[in-house]
Amino acid sequence: MNALDFSPALKELLSSNQLVGKSGKSFDNLGSRSTFNNLVVLRNLFLALKPARTLEIGLAFGASSLIFTESHRELNRPPQKQHIAIDPFQSDYWDACGLMVNERAGLGGYLELVERYSCFELPALAQKNLKFGLVYVDGSHQFEDVFVDFYFINRLVEDGGIVAFDDSSDRQVAKVLRFIDANLNSGWERVDLAPFRADGGKSLKWRVGGLLGKQQLVAYKKIGNGLRNADDAFKQF
Ligand SMILES: C[S@@+](CC[C@H](N)C(=O)[O-])C[C@H]1O[C@@H](n2cnc3c(N)ncnc32)[C@H](O)[C@@H]1O
Repeated sequence: MNALDFSPALKELLSSNQLVGKSGKSFDNLGSRSTFNNLVVLRNLFLALKPARTLEIGLAFGASSLIFTESHRELNRPPQKQHIAIDPFQSDYWDACGLMVNERAGLGGYLELVERYSCFELPALAQKNLKFGLVYVDGSHQFEDVFVDFYFINRLVEDGGIVAFDDSSDRQVAKVLRFIDANLNSGWERVDLAPFRADGGKSLKWRVGGLLGKQQLVAYKKIGNGLRNADDAFKQF
């Protein structure tokens, strides 16, 4: 499997300028799709980890979901809803576009769409004791939502699994990442994404972004118990 061999469905979605939803709603601004670089990194992380279960917050037009569902299929796994996508606005605002791109590609069996706010669904998944090998956080970008998302993702990622955050240089997302770096670094370590990028991390813009702490995608690997003890020091972030 090659990192750049995006499937026809994903290529078509990325090259589209317009999408039409289930009830005929037309979208001509498709700017919410994850970037090419994010998608390549997610795909390469998937190929490295071969996670049995994957999870994402934020389905929208379904670009990132196709990375997960197609990759599960490529591993010849029978469709068992291995990928969960949480998005409360999929049927309503997005007119089911993300669901439809998966169904049109014959990938509906790999996708479980949960139309709830992530703050309600993530605790439900944790209560079921489900574990995920790769999680993509691309839902609400408000500090309190991302913080709550991570609170539960901390419990949902299996040992050695990875969580990746889109828009990591957004100051609300970045604040959550500083909390992880300062206070949960015995459980989580940042992943060097250079080997997972199409350019192998050679892009000057990307390297400068790294030095300035301004990269779009930041990922953490679970290396231990991410839970703090009551007497652990609480560091400023
Ligand atoms: C940037 S888009 C996701 C793009 C998608 N990952 C892709 O690659 O095409 C953000 C999505 O988050 C969803 N969203 C916003 N607030 C949310 C919340 N509280 N819980 C879950 N999803 C949320 C929006 O409906 C939207 O679909």
